[in-house]
Amino acid sequence: MSTLDVDAIRATLPAGALIGRTVQVFAEVDSTNDVVARAGRLGADEGLVVFAEGQRAGRGRHGRRWDSAPGLGLWFSVLLRPPPRAPGPLALLAAVAVAGAVEETVGRPAGVKWPNDVLLDGRKVAGVLIEAKDGFAVVGIGVNANQRAEDFPAELRGRAGSLAMAHGETVDRTALAGRLLGRLDEFYRDWPANAANVVTACEARNVLRGQPVRAEDGTVGTVVGVRPDGGLQLRVGDDGEERTVYAGELQAI
Ligand code: BTN
Repeated sequence: MSTLDVDAIRATLPAGALIGRTVQVFAEVDSTNDVVARAGRLGADEGLVVFAEGQRAGRGRHGRRWDSAPGLGLWFSVLLRPPPRAPGPLALLAAVAVAGAVEETVGRPAGVKWPNDVLLDGRKVAGVLIEAKDGFAVVGIGVNANQRAEDFPAELRGRAGSLAMAHGETVDRTALAGRLLGRLDEFYRDWPANAANVVTACEARNVLRGQPVRAEDGTVGTVVGVRPDGGLQLRVGDDGEERTVYAGELQAI
């Protein structure tokens, strides 16, 4: 198992890239989101990226634990200082950047499950956790790169997958990291003027379109698509009534 190579990651980034102008790799931390949040509070520049080979307390959305097996995935966080706005569309930006890098790596289309899960063969291979802080945002990204099915905890085995499982061969994590930061930089450079493009790219990969779902507030409906403001549009009645969901867990029904 090779370790992440900071110099090789940085060498792939375009001159003047904002995301990745500082890249750090730690052997193990509690959570890269916490490391970046601390740096953000101390005034670190936008674009700082912190990777860890392993996380002792990686966390996912809705307070879940994020399994961060040492050396098998990409566990990292990015410090952004965007103008104030809802974190929703920023989550879509991250999901679309991850999906693009995943596709370039495995050579076939990835799906996006709103708001920010990336899927291959119906299995979740990546997730995004955005934490809005005072004056900055921490974008945490986890990508399952080289796990085999048996590397996942039993309760995740049916739903989680990795790029290697889908691709049939081991993935070079350093190259994947470079691709991912490059895409994040590309999308973020024009953000939020390019929000419509981000939403279109997300909608093109939307695995929920046409699916019946139940939102956390109890709303039941069929997914129509992702709205320009990042919300998920549901058709909730036979008379064509539609409602938008902006946050929370969706349950397939
Ligand atoms: C999810 O799908 O629930 C989001 C998962 C986000 C995991 C990443 S791994 C790097 C960063 N540090 C964390 O503790 N979480 C995010």
